[in-house]
Amino acid sequence: MNKVLVAPSILSADFNHLLDDIKKVEEAGAEWLHFDVMDGHFVPNISFGQPVLKCIAKSHNLVNDVHIMISDPFKYAPEFIKAGANILTFHYEAVNSDQEVFQVIDLIHDYGCKAGLSIKPNTPVEKVFPFIHSLDLVLIMSVEPGFGGQKFIQESFTKVFRLKEKIKQENAKCLIEIDGGINDETAKIAKMAGVDVLVAGSYLFGHDDIKERIEKLR
Ligand code: DX5
Ligand code: ZN
Repeated sequence: MNKVLVAPSILSADFNHLLDDIKKVEEAGAEWLHFDVMDGHFVPNISFGQPVLKCIAKSHNLVNDVHIMISDPFKYAPEFIKAGANILTFHYEAVNSDQEVFQVIDLIHDYGCKAGLSIKPNTPVEKVFPFIHSLDLVLIMSVEPGFGGQKFIQESFTKVFRLKEKIKQENAKCLIEIDGGINDETAKIAKMAGVDVLVAGSYLFGHDDIKERIEKLR
């Protein structure tokens, strides 16, 4: 089984010392940096946007894994790619048809960026099946999007397992990322279910033993 990748979510970082926190997770061995964009409309919280991404995108050597929990992803996708996204993941629930999902994926690829699609806990995993040959990543939300520090939703394991089965059956190449409530316990089962990338916010930031915690996730 390939080594699982770790994507610390900066939503839980100390914004008074953001670059220091990014350096800490980079030195501790993380491969991706998860950037949670929230617009206060698609989700009931507001986080940060393009100006912050632009500022930090080149300050480290991690993959900029940008998760946009926003309405109208087609309109804003180019801005986040220009600001430094290496992977741009939008929400299935933020568009109105499968055709529109393909349009956003194509737009992201046209700008030379990898494309991810995320589903909320209540969205059946089958909804992403039509796109798995076009996507680079599927992001399974294991909490209701909008806040860090929430409790992992157990049914998420089944969604990962079924998606992994479909990817293997279809010989698709897209990665599976899981996001929300990930710690050393939930990571174990998520890996068994088939995830390739673990997002972790509150389990990592704000602790003195980040390196050990990242190793425990693996
Ligand atoms: C929630 C965000 C998650 C969250 C993860 O909407 O998408 O990335 O920050 O935070 P933890 O790991 O604390 O659940
Ligand atoms: Zn996220």
